[in-house]
Amino acid sequence: MISPVFALIFGVLVSQPAFGLPSKITDVDDWCVVTEFDEVAKAVKNCTNIILDSVQVPGGETLKLHLNEGTQLIFRGEIVFGYAVWAGPLVEINGTNVYIEGEGAVLNGQGELYWDGKGEWGSLKPKFFTLQLHNSVMTFINVLNSPVHCVQLADSTDVELSFWTIDNWAGMPEVAGADKCGHNTDGFDIWNGTNIRLTTNMVFNQDDCVAIRCGNNIFVDQMSCFGGHGLSISVGFSNESVQQNTLSNVIVSDSVIQNGENGIHIKTHVDGGLGSITNVTYKNILIREVTKYGINVQQNYRNQPANSSQPSDAKNNIPITNLTFDNIFGLVQESAVPIYINCAEDGCFDWTFNDVNVTGTKSNNCNFQPAGFTC
Ligand SMILES: *[C@@H]1O[C@H](CO)[C@@H](O)[C@H](O)[C@H]1NC(C)=O
Ligand SMILES: *[C@@H]1O[C@H](CO)[C@@H](O)[C@H](O)[C@H]1NC(C)=O
Ligand SMILES: *[C@@H]1O[C@H](CO)[C@@H](O)[C@H](O)[C@H]1NC(C)=O
Ligand SMILES: *[C@@H]1O[C@H](CO)[C@@H](O)[C@H](O)[C@H]1NC(C)=O
Ligand SMILES: *[C@@H]1O[C@H](CO)[C@@H](O)[C@H](O)[C@H]1NC(C)=O
Ligand SMILES: *[C@@H]1O[C@H](CO)[C@@H](O)[C@H](O)[C@H]1NC(C)=O
Ligand SMILES: *[C@@H]1O[C@H](CO)[C@@H](O)[C@H](O)[C@H]1NC(C)=O
Ligand SMILES: *[C@@H]1O[C@H](CO)[C@@H](O)[C@H](O)[C@H]1NC(C)=O
Repeated sequence: MISPVFALIFGVLVSQPAFGLPSKITDVDDWCVVTEFDEVAKAVKNCTNIILDSVQVPGGETLKLHLNEGTQLIFRGEIVFGYAVWAGPLVEINGTNVYIEGEGAVLNGQGELYWDGKGEWGSLKPKFFTLQLHNSVMTFINVLNSPVHCVQLADSTDVELSFWTIDNWAGMPEVAGADKCGHNTDGFDIWNGTNIRLTTNMVFNQDDCVAIRCGNNIFVDQMSCFGGHGLSISVGFSNESVQQNTLSNVIVSDSVIQNGENGIHIKTHVDGGLGSITNVTYKNILIREVTKYGINVQQNYRNQPANSSQPSDAKNNIPITNLTFDNIFGLVQESAVPIYINCAEDGCFDWTFNDVNVTGTKSNNCNFQPAGFTC
């Protein structure tokens, strides 16, 4: 796992829970303690206070946790997921009013056995977590070596994910080599979420640190992102559903993004259907040492294999309205464009940038000028 030195470098701050959620584990007498994978299903069915201690999950099996309402779940020890060529997920959690906490546990996906530098475009790899939660908290979760995407939080309301460490350090190209590195190892992907808060999480990976896809009222703060592709918004995954291509009321704040490709990345997909992005604020963000873009807002995005070039024509199928950047500082590597904005015609409206200073060697490249900022 990551040495505590990094935690000190990034400096985590303690913050308040949101939305009046369940606030901590309550001690009770009747914990169901599970140490064998075969006992999980019964405990999940029968108990509301569960400890999963050092369970070894066989390859090709999902640790399925469809929890009773109000369940408290604790992870302990090292939980290892056996290798198998399959799509996963390794863990599926559904719950309402649940509180899930890691007590020093490590969930080890053994990504190093899968990584081939190609992510979802290479051999089949299991996704790690699929979560569908309501009025719930999941906290102090340590994840090691995610084969591909780590967290998919979907169709959820009033959720807080806090104090996670997603450690895909071993999958960095510099560490693993280009042919054995992780790719598409997104930290947190949020699909159709309402009142979601990600706070005080640390991610070392090889794709988006966070990727918000659709939903309303989404708050991301005190993230420390290392090596990935940015604090991202990625909208347009659906060809048919306007709802699935609609994102509104987002605040991303008080975070640091270091190394990796991009700092802030907002992308609308040219091959998706109609939708919109409205009322998004990024504030108090520090970007350091990224290699491609400090800030990249592009309406010409297409999800493609590593190293592909993007289509040249931007499209306005998903207009970006009321985008605010406030107090964004950064210094990028020589290879990177500090600020890149590629809007389609009639694609971008009412943007305001205050105190945005991202510098590097290359020039900025913008075809749209936000108020308060000269590109
Ligand atoms: C769990 O099962 C035991 C019997 O095996 C039963 O006594 C107990 O009430 C059950 N607990 C719950 C929460 O269903
Ligand atoms: C992507 O480009 C890098 C640098 O040129 C190379 O090392 C790597 O193998 C390429 N990855 C893929 C999947 O083609
Ligand atoms: C559990 O959540 C998954 C997605 O995470 C969803 O596909 C499934 O339908 C849910 N199951 C139940 C019983 O809610
Ligand atoms: C979004 O999630 C809500 C539950 O929070 C669900 O009722 C709704 O059907 C979902 N929408 C789509 C398009 O899946
Ligand atoms: C939408 O449909 C087009 C044409 O059928 C296809 O090329 C594209 O991949 C689809 N996009 C998505 C996001 O499913
Ligand atoms: C913009 O989003 C924030 C965060 O959800 C919210 O507090 C604010 O009211 C929204 N503004 C408008 C005009 O909807
Ligand atoms: C967009 O911003 C304008 C002012 O710049 C404000 O009047 C409007 O309420 C905002 N709308 C949303 C949906 O945020
Ligand atoms: C922007 O930051 C650079 C250092 O990264 C500094 O030299 C410059 O003065 C700053 N500009 C403004 C307007 O603050």
